[in-house]
Amino acid sequence: MSTVKPRRITVLGATGSIGMSTLDLVRRNPDKFIISALTANSNAQALAKLAIEFNAELAVVADPKQYRLLKELLAGTAIQIAVGEEGLIQAATLNADFVMSAIVGAAGLRPTLSAIRCGTTIGLANKESLVCAGDIMMQEAITHKTKIMPVDSEHNAIFQVFDNAENNSVEKIILTASGGPFLGRDQKSLKNVTPSEAIKHPNWEMGQKISIDSATMMNKGLEVIEAFHLFPVSTKQIEVLVHPQSVIHSMVQYVDGSVLAQLGSPDMRTPIAYSLAWPERMHAPVDRLSLAEIGQLSFFTPDLEAFPCLRLATEALHAGGSASIVLNAANEIAVEAFLNKKISFTDISSVVQEVLGKNDMKAPHSLSMVFEIDENARRNAENTILNSFL
Ligand SMILES: NC(=O)c1ccc[n+]([C@@H]2O[C@H](COP(=O)([O-])OP(=O)(O)OC[C@H]3O[C@@H](n4cnc5c(N)ncnc54)[C@H](OP(=O)(O)O)[C@@H]3O)[C@@H](O)[C@H]2O)c1
Repeated sequence: MSTVKPRRITVLGATGSIGMSTLDLVRRNPDKFIISALTANSNAQALAKLAIEFNAELAVVADPKQYRLLKELLAGTAIQIAVGEEGLIQAATLNADFVMSAIVGAAGLRPTLSAIRCGTTIGLANKESLVCAGDIMMQEAITHKTKIMPVDSEHNAIFQVFDNAENNSVEKIILTASGGPFLGRDQKSLKNVTPSEAIKHPNWEMGQKISIDSATMMNKGLEVIEAFHLFPVSTKQIEVLVHPQSVIHSMVQYVDGSVLAQLGSPDMRTPIAYSLAWPERMHAPVDRLSLAEIGQLSFFTPDLEAFPCLRLATEALHAGGSASIVLNAANEIAVEAFLNKKISFTDISSVVQEVLGKNDMKAPHSLSMVFEIDENARRNAENTILNSFL
């Protein structure tokens, strides 16, 4: 019998793709983990089912309209219920050893930051929070001695092969990109693609928003910004390489010419398992990689004309100040408009570019400034869509 105390896990965004993969690993390891809190946005049914299955201490639904339903579904159990952003923060700060930050979008920022301030180890999937407030989050992590484990497969790969003791010997980090469902297409041919075509990722099963971001390659752009905050490298030391098979998850190149890579089947349960078990490793029920079966791996430089979102994100990182927050906010609004069939696929980058062009907000010095810039950019993006794209 194991004498090691089970780790208490909270999952922010439990009903999503990363949340469910995390809970799949928890389910398979009942002696290793117990659940503290689980959260969702509006899917009260799925949340209640998970909260009961894992005997969670707290279940939180962000959407106040779903509170009554959640209460009904959990009636007669000892599970506490909370609602709204306050509820998410309550979940993030509940007694836990590990918080999986897997809310999608900037909505994950406040809860993630609250967990960081408690000193709880964070599994960071919510890249948008780093894109918006990377400096603040990393500074808070230092202040509160909080370990941030990158869950994004690329950053998790870099984490595994980055020699922190020799970080001056790192020449560059190379983020691989699948290229998404439209790899090889030119921009003209992408004008009329539908949301259902854009969501079909060739290698990964993910939530809607990140799937569209992968199709526009904005996801890779957000990851470039994420990598800049997570690792001690300059903006010039981050490169993107298209690798359609998604087998090499990323690489680090050193001054002696060595390139270290992490490989694996494209299944998020590998980086999630790594972050949950670190500094140890745990079994993950993923397909084992057979390079002989795959036979060939291919690589290309990204096509920035067909996928301008990657260029825009890189430019926003170089520009600094408020640009990354504006980029992210405009992108969230544009992706939603595309999913609701209000704008075309290629309009996504045009909206982001136009909103970035109008941005005159100063660099944020505080979290409240980050939210002010974010809200302002969302309004600008909505107006831009209304005035120029409908
Ligand atoms: N999926 C992947 O393979 C993958 C890989 C790397 C990184 N990531 C990153 O991980 C994050 C989550 O991605 P995902 O694919 O798991 O997304 P997803 O499947 O869409 O799930 C998102 C989760 O966040 C909740 N949520 C959505 N909006 C919210 C809000 N305003 N307030 C509170 N909760 C909210 C959702 O609740 P409901 O179910 O109630 O809507 C759901 O639990 C993203 O930042 C993404 O970029 C994902």
